[in-house]
Amino acid sequence: MNLGSYPATRPRRLRSAAFVRDLVRETRLAPAQLIAPLFVAEGKLKGPIRSMPDILRLDLDELAAEVKALHRMGIAAVALFPVIPPELKNELGSEALNPEGLIPRAIKRVKAELPELGVIVDIALDPYTSHGHDGILDDSGYVANDITVEALRKQALVLARAGADVLAPSDMMDGRVGAIRSVLERDNRHNTLILSYAAKYASGFYGPFRDAVGSSASLKGDKRTYQMDPANSDEALREVALDLAEGADIIMVKPGLPYLDIIRRVKDRFEVPVCAYQVSGEYAMLKAATANGWLDEKKVVLESLLCLRRAGADMILTYFARQAAQWLAE
Ligand code: PBG
Repeated sequence: MNLGSYPATRPRRLRSAAFVRDLVRETRLAPAQLIAPLFVAEGKLKGPIRSMPDILRLDLDELAAEVKALHRMGIAAVALFPVIPPELKNELGSEALNPEGLIPRAIKRVKAELPELGVIVDIALDPYTSHGHDGILDDSGYVANDITVEALRKQALVLARAGADVLAPSDMMDGRVGAIRSVLERDNRHNTLILSYAAKYASGFYGPFRDAVGSSASLKGDKRTYQMDPANSDEALREVALDLAEGADIIMVKPGLPYLDIIRRVKDRFEVPVCAYQVSGEYAMLKAATANGWLDEKKVVLESLLCLRRAGADMILTYFARQAAQWLAE
């Protein structure tokens, strides 16, 4: 690269006025690139989440109103997460397979209101298990891979048949993307997409989410035997390669901001659609600092989302989706 030299080359010239800054900007952020995660609950479980200010657990009527507002603001898709009452949880997470369960009903409600809005749902058992793990435990307490994949395959079919557009396995079991793809193909659901949480780390930043879905109090131990070690990055590429070979359409990297290097490596190596998940702990962190007046909320939220895009994310799952879309429209 021939950069020339000062004073013929003055990099500040390209920053000297708004019009030229606009013209040379390499990365842009638009509402259509944002996905809003929404917590769905019923009865007395609905309402605020202590560690996630301004986020509510919504009942089905509130969900219907919320998705219409999001759609009006240009948000392309929502990701639904259930808050399951403790009495419906068990060791096997069997409520996850109930075709009349909360998420199937939520999918149908959203699709009835707004057929064109993309509906993404998690494939994992943790909102449904009494022990809070994403899969089924063997006698030693280890999350057993293959019997969990069998349950996930059934959960996937239930949710696809309820009308979900995108299935997002977030469990990190081996072989689950292939198992889900094959059950979808056999059911003639060729266009049901798989957004695979391929590089999902055993992160401390998921705490507020676990408060929101009520799995933190009951969670026994941690998830380090299935979610990835934050120290690793080559391993993320191996996980992504496997999921793509098994039929994943979009790759998730999670969490977001502390893992920008992973997003970039995945994008450079595979050149496939990449989704970043700005997780609950990232949300809580920014909310806490801005509530104290220590940071300017609009500036840091839009900057953090832009940086995820710059690192290589085509789309971002973020609890700031609605607020960011509003700011972007101003
Ligand atoms: C469950 C799941 C988790 C998140 C999304 N799906 C929690 C976990 O793995 O413990 C976290 C999202 C967030 O923190 O915002 N499989």
